[in-house]
Amino acid sequence: MKTSSSSLSREIERLHEKLHHVGWTRKHCEMIAPTTLEINRLKTEQNAVILAHSYQTPDIMYGVGDYVGDSYGLSRMAMEHPARKIIFCSVYFMGETAKLLNPDKEVVVPRKAGCSLADAVNAEQVRRLRKQHPDAGVVCYVNTYAEVKAESDACCTSSNVVAVVEAMPQEEIIFIPDKLMGLNLQNMTSKKIITWEGTCIVHEEFDESSIKDIRTRFQDVKILAHPECSPGIVALVDFAGGTESMLKYVQESSAKTFMLVSECGLTDRFKAEFPGKEIVGTCILCPYMKEIHLDDVLQALKNPTPEQIVNIPEDIAERARASLDRMFELEQKGRALLKERS
Ligand code: 13P
Ligand code: SF4
Repeated sequence: MKTSSSSLSREIERLHEKLHHVGWTRKHCEMIAPTTLEINRLKTEQNAVILAHSYQTPDIMYGVGDYVGDSYGLSRMAMEHPARKIIFCSVYFMGETAKLLNPDKEVVVPRKAGCSLADAVNAEQVRRLRKQHPDAGVVCYVNTYAEVKAESDACCTSSNVVAVVEAMPQEEIIFIPDKLMGLNLQNMTSKKIITWEGTCIVHEEFDESSIKDIRTRFQDVKILAHPECSPGIVALVDFAGGTESMLKYVQESSAKTFMLVSECGLTDRFKAEFPGKEIVGTCILCPYMKEIHLDDVLQALKNPTPEQIVNIPEDIAERARASLDRMFELEQKGRALLKERS
């Protein structure tokens, strides 16, 4: 479709307004504007909504994303939004989660991208763990595929993991697949946690010396880490929590300088959304999240391949959905329990 020069100019302005905070020049914005315009036009025409995880690149988050958030917030948005079609810009397991929660909607992923955590455990391994620990309940992190969710008693995300585990009826919990999050969890709950050998290849990379170095260089810095980092890192930071709770922390803090011990997309998001705050230190790129490019989003809208359309066999979907439903139920109960104890 032909684009008028005035709508192209407006699009370049719109993009530059947000993206200059993360170092994008007007020239960069001129290069992507025809694509973002086309994506946004197709999106309206097809009654589609684009959900973008915070680890996506800024052109996706701010150029075409209707909502940017963490795995929990985006799952909720997928359930509440009236659009007929969901384009999920993130790794595959998140697209699967959206499909589980919205069986009647079409969910499309621009790339079938993996995740070192989701790839670390399969259904057969969960069944074996259950046999080894018959008295334990099984809680799976949302970074798992549907077949693993289907074998679990409840799912959880980084934003509700403590509440879900606390509300489980068992005293022993098999927590899969993130070993480091499981070890952090052991320090935060009264339950006995049985861990698995999965790790996030991004968050396991941070070392304690870089945190100490930032503290000596920036006296009033507040340091925030994702709970997929090691307990050694979590012990050194001012706050550990999921993506959206980090955002809330920065929003409510009077501090001016922050370090995010997390993925680079999050750093970009904070720079774009809090231009008055200074974000210091390093970040690490997630190669899976970064597989998705703007052109993939356009192609997924125009002509999705069967591989890009999320489809989950009904026998697995039904049981996986039950573990997500259980998560919503347990998180309420767990939050009430934690409040009572505090
Ligand atoms: P969130 O649950 O915070 O979105 O994290 C998902 C993830 O993949 C973190 O590495
Ligand atoms: Fe998976 Fe880690 Fe990438 Fe998140 S950052 S998608 S947990 S590999």
